[in-house]
Amino acid sequence: MAKKKTKFMCRSCGYESPKWMGRCPGCGEWNTMDEEVEIVQKGPRGAFQHSTSILSKAVPINSIETIQEPRVDTDLDELNRVLGGGIVPGSLILIGGDPGIGKSTLLLQVSSLLANKGQRVLYISGEESIRQTKLRAERLGVISDELYIYAETDLGKIHETIAEVKPQLVIADSIQTIHHPEVTSAPGSVSQVRECTAELMRIAKTQNIAIFIVGHVTKDGQIAGPRLLEHMVDTVLYFEGERHHTYRILRSVKNRFGSTNEIAIFEMLQSGLKEVLNPSELFLRERSQGGAGSTVVASMEGTRPILVEIQALVTPSSFNYPKRMATGLDQNRVSLLMAVLEKRMGMLLQAQDAYIKVAGGVKLDEPAIDLAVLMSIVSSYRDLSVGVTDCFIGEVGLTGEVRRVSRIEQRVTEAAKLGFERAFVPSSNLGGWDYPAGIQVVGVETIGDAMKLAFGQS
Ligand SMILES: Nc1ncnc2c1ncn2[C@@H]1O[C@H](COP(=O)(O)OP(=O)(O)OP(=O)(O)O)[C@@H](O)[C@H]1O
Ligand SMILES: [Mg+2]
Repeated sequence: MAKKKTKFMCRSCGYESPKWMGRCPGCGEWNTMDEEVEIVQKGPRGAFQHSTSILSKAVPINSIETIQEPRVDTDLDELNRVLGGGIVPGSLILIGGDPGIGKSTLLLQVSSLLANKGQRVLYISGEESIRQTKLRAERLGVISDELYIYAETDLGKIHETIAEVKPQLVIADSIQTIHHPEVTSAPGSVSQVRECTAELMRIAKTQNIAIFIVGHVTKDGQIAGPRLLEHMVDTVLYFEGERHHTYRILRSVKNRFGSTNEIAIFEMLQSGLKEVLNPSELFLRERSQGGAGSTVVASMEGTRPILVEIQALVTPSSFNYPKRMATGLDQNRVSLLMAVLEKRMGMLLQAQDAYIKVAGGVKLDEPAIDLAVLMSIVSSYRDLSVGVTDCFIGEVGLTGEVRRVSRIEQRVTEAAKLGFERAFVPSSNLGGWDYPAGIQVVGVETIGDAMKLAFGQS
């Protein structure tokens, strides 16, 4: 006999409680408890649930043979890099992103590329009918006999189809639409998402199939569903981008098989997503020549340097509390740099509003951008522009010193490649590496030095 049970579950941490609570005792979040109705079946659960197990018996570590897992090359170099060198067979990869950002487009393209290489791919679409998927495939120019499209949301049937089609890659678009036949709460609820992911994980690990799952995001940009979804999967990728720009950034935030903080940049075209091979050019394309308040920094995104423009607008404030606004970087960092300028350089910034923006919608969070941010603030405040071919790299300390950063050679090489003629770097970073041809490397010890050299006055 089946028994009905009602419980409340926290959307963010998975905490369970028999009664509703405004605040989750597990994670302290407000209004995250959702009601779930569960029908508890007496007797054994469905056959496929426990038919297989990832776990074998315990063995001594030295007796395990090491074979380098072959990675599947997707032909999209950008995606390969974000994944740490290609798709690892048997891995579970979660892709999250805003509605309409291009998750289905990217995955259909990847499916097609792999199918063209003779890999069998099963694309499970829970959101679109097979005709709609076919229409999109036609627009993207997808033709392959090895690509199977399946519009289904029942996990039991999906399980059977995987056994029948025997694919090497499965795409589940999206996890919020798929439902587990033995969990009675609505699709997209915490327990459904958790159980479905766990089942897909079992399939991936036992049958050595790589599975991509698409996850919707909530208003504040988190992947909808329990937070533990991110712990369960091997890799988490976020697809971001500004609605008003055509390019999209795929960012790795967790990867069990490669480095995180890698990004891949794509441009959304009629024919699908196209890789942007030289992102620095893209970010500097619209840079105004010689305007005050604009500087360029060579920032590291994972293992790759990209050159990005930082813009500042510093204007007299008409409020008691001057405004500080930062887009694409941490606002506290901006306040700190302005305080350093006030104290060390005697600039009267407390009566000024400051708006700082990383052009092109990228987000930068490493300390090596400090010097460029600070120089753009000074440039706007004094209405003096820095050289069009100057770029700035360095962390700024509280006493106004410019501190050492990592991977200086790669940064300066990228700047030289794009025609920059002067790179301001921390003095402590000088020496011990080869300066690229065509660029003058200027070492600076303090922010005062940097100002003197860049503006020709202190
Ligand atoms: N004919 C077209 N030409 C150019 N771009 C198009 C065309 N049709 C769709 N697009 C782009 O594709 C995007 C939709 O992509 P896609 O359906 O892959 O997004 P998604 O992330 O899967 O969305 P959802 O979360 O709704 O499933 C649109 O926002 C639009 O930018
Ligand atoms: Mg979609």
